[in-house]
Amino acid sequence: MQIKKILSLFSLYVSFSLISKSYQQSFEIDDEIDDEVEDIDNNSHQQCANDIIFGNQLMKNDCCDNLHFKCQDTDITEIILQNNELSGKLSETIGNISSLELLNLSSNKLTGNLPESINKLQKLKTLYLYDNELSGSIPDSISKLTELEKLYLYNNQLSGKLPKSLGEMHHLTHLLLGNNKIKGNIPSNIGLLQNIKVISFLKNSLDGEIPKTMGNLESLESLYVL
Ligand SMILES: *[C@@H]1O[C@H](CO)[C@@H](O)[C@H](O)[C@H]1NC(C)=O
Ligand SMILES: *[C@@H]1O[C@H](CO)[C@@H](O)[C@H](O)[C@H]1NC(C)=O
Ligand SMILES: *[C@@H]1O[C@H](CO)[C@@H](O)[C@H](O)[C@H]1NC(C)=O
Repeated sequence: MQIKKILSLFSLYVSFSLISKSYQQSFEIDDEIDDEVEDIDNNSHQQCANDIIFGNQLMKNDCCDNLHFKCQDTDITEIILQNNELSGKLSETIGNISSLELLNLSSNKLTGNLPESINKLQKLKTLYLYDNELSGSIPDSISKLTELEKLYLYNNQLSGKLPKSLGEMHHLTHLLLGNNKIKGNIPSNIGLLQNIKVISFLKNSLDGEIPKTMGNLESLESLYVL
């Protein structure tokens, strides 16, 4: 029994160190872990990540490991997989995780467009996709995310224009879009973002004037437009 346990913990350790350094750090040997060994082994976070992000819609509560996937009951509320070497295109199925409040896929190697279906994530408060290789334009429909507070898309290859109805994201506090290839002008409805604190459009190809309506932004602390 003891040997079996040690062996299974050993193989768990090996598979985890292959999967993720952070697992290794936070992994504590615990008596209760014995029961969970099989489950965890079968459902590595990598598999959950691939299934949820790239399309198989696994969405089982065995993805709720509380390190990379936080859940309320069986609903996924947070996906935290920054700096995980994830590559490929985000699947449209991501829009099905309607309970999602935080999506942190920053510092990976994601390519392709931002999925249109992202506008279905009506509870989303934090969207961190900075430091990737995303391209295409930011879908106009992103402005349906009226609960969104932090939109961090800097350091990508995004092009096209700013979403037309930017100003509808009433809860936005941080809008960081620097170092992309976004063109066109800043929509004047940006003046409706009454909670905005930080705006960065640094290192893009915007033109036109800074809308006068931005003078209404009383919460604004930092503005980087050049
Ligand atoms: C884990 O995988 C093994 C072998 O592939 C299988 O026998 C077992 O039923 C699986 N366990 C769970 C909880 O899915
Ligand atoms: C998940 O999303 C895809 C693409 O948006 C859609 O075709 C599919 O019907 C959705 N599945 C469920 C279970 O909602
Ligand atoms: C998101 O990922 C970044 C690293 O890219 C990390 O510094 C940050 O703490 C993460 N934030 C959350 C809320 O997960």
